[in-house]
Amino acid sequence: MSERAAPPVILDCDPGHDDAFAIALAAVHTELLGITTVAGNAPLAATTRNALVVAQVLDLDVAVHAGSPRPLVGEGRTAEFIHGDSGLDGPPPPELHRSALSNDAVRFIVDTVRARPGAVWIVATGPLTNVALALRVAPDLHEHLAGIAFMGGGVPFGNVTPAAEFNILVDPEAAHVVVSSGVRLVMAGLNVTHGWLVDGGVADDLRGTGSDAANFCAALIDYYCDAYARAFSGKAEGPLHDACAVLALTHPELFERESYHVEVELTGTHTRGMTVADLRGVRQSALANVEVLTSIDARAATALLIETFATYR
Ligand code: RIB
Ligand code: CA
Repeated sequence: MSERAAPPVILDCDPGHDDAFAIALAAVHTELLGITTVAGNAPLAATTRNALVVAQVLDLDVAVHAGSPRPLVGEGRTAEFIHGDSGLDGPPPPELHRSALSNDAVRFIVDTVRARPGAVWIVATGPLTNVALALRVAPDLHEHLAGIAFMGGGVPFGNVTPAAEFNILVDPEAAHVVVSSGVRLVMAGLNVTHGWLVDGGVADDLRGTGSDAANFCAALIDYYCDAYARAFSGKAEGPLHDACAVLALTHPELFERESYHVEVELTGTHTRGMTVADLRGVRQSALANVEVLTSIDARAATALLIETFATYR
């Protein structure tokens, strides 16, 4: 695997099948400083357990810190129709021999970022609650973060509603805090993640790399693709949403991107949770605040995924 700088990263996630692949990629291609969990695809206890399961299956020496059990405002929503009741349905989970190092993800984020000013990225692949809370409790944090790469939103469409994508819709207020923070932002929205579909063939290629970890993650893909077939398209294939947020940072050459001004709709009857990008490209456009990924080289990304799993033993 080619040598390139491994950016120091905190991965904030809500495992979640596609979050598991974000973890697997981040563990190899970044300096993974820690995993923080948030309620999203499943309740916090489940996403935290699932992060521990994935870290154990991948044999990672990385701590997990549990974060917020609910969004900033109101109650959350979950996504059992895709991820199952456990949040990581499919392969039988191993007997878990790990536990979360703390229940204070926000403290971990703030302390870790402050310890390495200007160096640390947050990669967020769930609702942005923990990230927003960290930005709120530490007003200096935005000066010390290298950036935030997040899977969320879509330009211009959503998935839970025509306008809103799941991670943003679970906590629109948190997303508003993030897009207003002044931090360098890279957005992997549905418009790019739907360009990278995995299927049973990719699962078979993963199995071909031979490790128990690859077999476990291949079974995650099988379950995930069947869930997408039932829920959406009828075809057993699914977008590897969260993996895009990691690769945007570690392999930027796989993507095209445009910088836009993006706001998060908080009050629309039909549009709450929408990431509203100003695509007009005129002088009236507000200054761009988000690097929006617009396309992915799916073939290269899949080849990199298989190559990455070949390093797991
Ligand atoms: O809309 C897709 C996003 O919602 C992904 O992060 C998936 O894991 C779910 O959290
Ligand atoms: Ca996720």
